[in-house]
Amino acid sequence: MTHEIAIIPGDGIGQEVTPAAIDVLDELDIDFDFVYGDAGDETKAETGEALPEETAAIAADADATLFGAAGETAADVILPLRSVVGSFANIRPARAYPALDGLQPETDLVFVRENTEGVYSGIENEITEGVRTLTRVITEDASEQIAEYGFQYAKRNGYDDVTIAHKANVMQETDGLFVEVAERVAEERGAEYDTTLMDALAMHLVMHPEDYGVVICPNLAGDMLSDLAAGLVGGLGLLPSANVGEENALFEPVHGSAPDIAGEGVANPTAMILSAAMMLDHLEYTEPAAQVRVAVESVLENGPHTPDLGGDATTEEMTAAIVDNL
Ligand code: NAI
Ligand code: MG
Repeated sequence: MTHEIAIIPGDGIGQEVTPAAIDVLDELDIDFDFVYGDAGDETKAETGEALPEETAAIAADADATLFGAAGETAADVILPLRSVVGSFANIRPARAYPALDGLQPETDLVFVRENTEGVYSGIENEITEGVRTLTRVITEDASEQIAEYGFQYAKRNGYDDVTIAHKANVMQETDGLFVEVAERVAEERGAEYDTTLMDALAMHLVMHPEDYGVVICPNLAGDMLSDLAAGLVGGLGLLPSANVGEENALFEPVHGSAPDIAGEGVANPTAMILSAAMMLDHLEYTEPAAQVRVAVESVLENGPHTPDLGGDATTEEMTAAIVDNL
């Protein structure tokens, strides 16, 4: 069976790391049909729309989507794309690799982030000049769905520690509901868990990431805490992610378009290639997914490395080494 994969490179280093992931997928003995779509700042400049309808349709119809990054238009591209694929969960693993000089070599965390609401509800208003509001939406349904997914994920992937992150002491109604529902889900499943205030969690993650496994969190908290965890393991060039829906899914690095290095050919392709590995797992190519991870880990151990990891290799050189290892 041939899988149709939507490829949306986007802007900046999205254009550089997406071909790297394709090189890796091309090396596997799997029939993929790649369908390309445009989105992002350049597309907006050319067509007036950051996410043209054709691109959204490609993602909706494909078996899975690989997305690079968008720049300033990120919110107009990735939020609708996540919704086009019906994604309710954003899975962001943050793992330290022993050979890399990360701040916290014991880190092995997975953020299971609610992906549809919270402060990313998009409901913002100007009430009067100088006064603007944002509506933070938390629903029982979305909270239940993310908690279910988080506990299932922990069980399936062998994580003992599940933490529910929240700020219910202040946001009593919204996060009050989030925690209440997540605790109910845990109790129904007979699962062990902790609840932690998200600000304190930020500190504990920096000092003792080894105490944590799966972190189930509201939307913005997951966005911020996963970047924080990227800092613990060696930077954003390493963190992949999956946006999972009931049937469809979209895979993307956690990083953005990185305008500070875009065009130089030195972006770390790891995050994008590991996102492709998450896609392989999703499509039930478990063995090839594992092979890709082993190939990436070997290059993380032995080099060559891009400058963010202290090396002087280009994106293409690091990618070629990963492909050679397959
Ligand atoms: P960023 O993730 O693009 O970059 C942050 C820092 O990490 C930069 O110093 C960058 O050089 C470095 N970095 C990121 N990925 C790297 C890689 N693969 N290899 C080596 N170094 C890497 O975040 P920033 O700078 O906050 O945002 C830049 C643009 O990206 C903004 O326009 C923002 O809106 C957009 N953005 C888009 C996202 C998306 O499309 N999902 C997510 C985050 C930001
Ligand atoms: Mg982010």
